[in-house]
Amino acid sequence: LAFGLAGCGSGGEKSSQGEQKKDEPIVIKFSHVVKETTPKGQAALKFKELVEQKTGGKVKVEVYPSSQLYGDKEELEALVANNVQMIAPSATKLVGLNPAYQIVDMPFIFKNDQAALNFYNGPVGQKLLTSLEDKGILGLAWWPNGAKHFTNSKRPLKRPEDFKGLKFRTQSGGVLDAQFKALGAGSQTIPFGEVYPALQNGTVDGQENTFNNIDTQKYIEVQKYLTVSGHGRIDYVVLVNKSFWDSIPEDLRSKVKEAMDEATKLATELSDKQNKESFEKIKQSGKVEIYELTEADRAEFVKAMEPVYREYESKIGKEIMDAARNAQ
Ligand code: LMR
Repeated sequence: LAFGLAGCGSGGEKSSQGEQKKDEPIVIKFSHVVKETTPKGQAALKFKELVEQKTGGKVKVEVYPSSQLYGDKEELEALVANNVQMIAPSATKLVGLNPAYQIVDMPFIFKNDQAALNFYNGPVGQKLLTSLEDKGILGLAWWPNGAKHFTNSKRPLKRPEDFKGLKFRTQSGGVLDAQFKALGAGSQTIPFGEVYPALQNGTVDGQENTFNNIDTQKYIEVQKYLTVSGHGRIDYVVLVNKSFWDSIPEDLRSKVKEAMDEATKLATELSDKQNKESFEKIKQSGKVEIYELTEADRAEFVKAMEPVYREYESKIGKEIMDAARNAQ
């Protein structure tokens, strides 16, 4: 098929209507929920630039940031319906399609950023990327954001018991609900685009996110306390509608893939850099009281999370849990 299409393109002198259509650029609509300035936002723009450059404009990318086109829930449906061709949700948001993606939420499982990256780029992470093919979705890459931390408006969170009775926003159910339950707290799933008002009007007391999301979403305007916990992660899976992907002529598709690999490198560099910068900015602002978990605090949290490990070991799969635990 790819040969056939490429052949049509080169024989373009005698232009029938069908061929004219093939001369029009292929358009990839890429929708995401964060600001353009974030690692994901910047990587998406880099991807656009590279795709258009490498394909000489034969493939165009339209990037829609900040839930402009679709929010959390809709973007996945829109992808399956081919109303957008690419999205890059946080892995957690795929829980309904494959619960194993919740490995990113599993509290305190990755040793550090590098361990998470090695897990994603290793056999288990790569297998996860192709696990949604029967749903018409293909994973092209993992784009990291980073470790997430707790914020709230009520009190400093230093020990598990400090969470009792508070309510937190989650990105999705499953592991995240279980995590808060284990801490004696409530939780509610709220789309990313609606988190700020939910914190402002007290629908929830707190949330968990990367420094960069906390910073770029201005949560510190409506939160009083930040606990540097790094208890879980927010990382992205770049997804493409599979039939759309397969329909791109092979010569162009390999260029798009190259662009994706380069954008992935940028996402990785920026995630590290921008989270550090955002943490500095948050500190400098003086708007939130910051507490960094000590090793002893951390051990208490790990202990409190035992019910979560027990319940989810089988749902996520032991092989995946072990690969995450052992990643260096
Ligand atoms: C969130 O919902 O908190 C994050 O997944 C948003 C994002 O895409 O970084």
